[in-house]
Amino acid sequence: MPFTLALLIIACSLVYYYCTRTFNFWKDKNVKGPNPIPLFGNFIEVFLRRKHVGILYNDLYKEYKNEKVVGLFRMISPTLLVRDLDIVKQVLIKDFELLPDRGLYYSKEALGDNLFHATYDVSKTIRKHVTSIFTSRKFRNNFDLFVDRADKFLDYLENKTMKKSEFEVLPIFRKYAVDSIMIAFCGLDVKAYDDDNPLCDFMDAQIQTPTYFIEMELLFPGTLAKWNLSAFPKSVREFCQQVVRTGISNVAKEDSLNVKNNLIDVIAELLKDNKVAKEGEDSFMQVTEDMLIGQVFIFYFAGYGNNSLVTTYALYHLAQNPEVQDKLIAEIDEVLEKYDGKLTYDAFREMKYLQMVFDETIRMHPLTNSITRNVRTDVKIEGMDLVIPKDTIVVVSPYAIQHDEKYYPEPEKFEPERFSPENVRQRHPCAMVSFGAGPRSCLGSRYAHLQFGICMAKLLSKYRVEATENTVKTIDYTAMRLLLTPSDRIYLRLVRRNRQ
Ligand code: HEM
Repeated sequence: MPFTLALLIIACSLVYYYCTRTFNFWKDKNVKGPNPIPLFGNFIEVFLRRKHVGILYNDLYKEYKNEKVVGLFRMISPTLLVRDLDIVKQVLIKDFELLPDRGLYYSKEALGDNLFHATYDVSKTIRKHVTSIFTSRKFRNNFDLFVDRADKFLDYLENKTMKKSEFEVLPIFRKYAVDSIMIAFCGLDVKAYDDDNPLCDFMDAQIQTPTYFIEMELLFPGTLAKWNLSAFPKSVREFCQQVVRTGISNVAKEDSLNVKNNLIDVIAELLKDNKVAKEGEDSFMQVTEDMLIGQVFIFYFAGYGNNSLVTTYALYHLAQNPEVQDKLIAEIDEVLEKYDGKLTYDAFREMKYLQMVFDETIRMHPLTNSITRNVRTDVKIEGMDLVIPKDTIVVVSPYAIQHDEKYYPEPEKFEPERFSPENVRQRHPCAMVSFGAGPRSCLGSRYAHLQFGICMAKLLSKYRVEATENTVKTIDYTAMRLLLTPSDRIYLRLVRRNRQ
């Protein structure tokens, strides 16, 4: 019995040691931060799915308002939250080469080599090829097709909503986002508007629900990659594989939906040789189907997830701020009149206020919970007596920065004028980081503007959007989703405009 007891005490001490072994990390470096608790560090509320991680960072950012950086522990992993914008600039732009990855590594065969999660060595080579599909020329050439899809969506929306006094915004706009992203990048019509097609909602649940694999990785760093585990369910990979295979067979039959030089064309080209010259080096990188399935995954995830949320939030704020909506509608009408009622690429580019509405929406709701970087080589933080060692995660919180009164007075007010060129010029360049910054900033930001702008211009040229008695007064975020997603359903009403 005493022997068993002794064993138990030793085992408990070892577990306790493991669960607290890093907890002097920030104290030793004189970095202030909240006290961690064994096993969970400062992450307990995120672990229990009571708080979205983006909101946790915001709370800590506010609590340590006199600090340039805050030291915290995600489970037992030391993580540095950067508050100071010059340091944000240092880690994302100036010293980028010292922290070029995001630090979440998982099975390369199961989506882990996508552009977002891949190491910089892989991502810079793939990114160079994929960038070719985001040029202005390509957007201009395919603009009519994108507008056609928005028209198709409006027909669907009208059918679904006009006889009702209100509708739930997010699920309907998810269909537009999936349809437009799949057409634009994969040349595939996934029949998103068929009522019995569960694809949009099914994939949404699979992709957006946070799994405990992340916490496991934070407790036992390196486990996912070592055991070849994915951070996403198998069904997501299966769907993306099917997209790659169908897309490539369509390319061979010249059957993709008119969008030339799309992601699938790039993939087909890369797969032909199975290798590609490494960017900036004198050697080649092996190209696998798995790697390319990963790229379809990140395009799907980034394209539908962000767009459905940004349109939902924008419509919500337009309904709550009728004067902003009036101004936007006036701009849309004026520009369309100049172009004989046709939404062209040039007309879209003239709608400056529309772009400001987009920017203000993603300022208030940056969607991304954080921007992360993994220290590859020790980094000396500028203006501080602090060196961050290899394998520490550095985090920037777009939500916290963009709700800081110092940069955005009355941050809870929806004011697109904050993004007039004069106002933007007066702010620190890192005061707006919804698309990140530096060489790993968002690849799809220009397309995101376009996808949003086409849909809004089409919608608001026909309808006004109004709040109903069921529209929530404020927006909270659920902890059950990866992107910053409203915890309540958002209901709005469309009212047909009487145009003179
Ligand atoms: C409102 C819409 C969007 C928002 C707010 C958004 C936000 C972001 C953010 C914050 C990052 C990380 C940046 C960093 O770490 O510095 C990112 C990366 C990325 N985004 Fe987006 N995104 C959006 C739309 C899109 C779209 C439509 C696509 C593709 C079709 C896309 C593709 C990517 C890719 C591939 C990366 C990884 C880039 C790299 O590591 O090289 N995003 N995005």
